Amino acid sequence: MKRYEARQFPKLKGLSGISDALLQDHIKLYEGYVKNSNLIIDELEGLAKTGKAAGTNPAYAELTRRLGFETNGAILHEFYFDNLSPEPEPLEKDSLLGKAVAESFGSVDAWLADFKAVAAMRGVGWAIAFRDPLNGNITNRWIELHQGGHPAGYRPIVVMDCWEHAFVPDYKPTERAKYIDAYFRNLDYKACGARLIK
Ligand SMILES: [Fe+2]
Repeated sequence: MKRYEARQFPKLKGLSGISDALLQDHIKLYEGYVKNSNLIIDELEGLAKTGKAAGTNPAYAELTRRLGFETNGAILHEFYFDNLSPEPEPLEKDSLLGKAVAESFGSVDAWLADFKAVAAMRGVGWAIAFRDPLNGNITNRWIELHQGGHPAGYRPIVVMDCWEHAFVPDYKPTERAKYIDAYFRNLDYKACGARLIK
């Protein structure tokens, strides 16, 4: 099985209200998810080769469950870093994404208010605007622990890390509202919109 490779994000610097130092630490966390995904794949392959890949083997079961956490941790961070930019493009109402969110929520502002409500939820997780592949709806969802709650087949369009490591120490743990403002100052809707047609 192929292994994952950690990507580089050389353009991810100079954001408004999210420091370069925090981003560098955040990228190291992402690299940890990539590394651990590969380690778990190594271990699972080792168990398979020695005839220990059994659902009744607690080690096999725990590693398999853990793989979802690590791999989704890697994937979601790539979506998150990719939709931030020091020169973000705004959301145009007549763009593909602008029309899509307005069709689902009534207006761009209504979608934005809903997304921010999800982002402000207590606890750590992810706020994600997905595209429903069946009807084209945009739906804002809360994702817990990287791997829990993803609607099958839905495509992440706007991805926001709501774990505290995404904004502490730039802000206090009680200042998520400031981080939400900073996130939207750097959110590149061009990158998000491109995901609609991939
Ligand atoms: Fe993160």
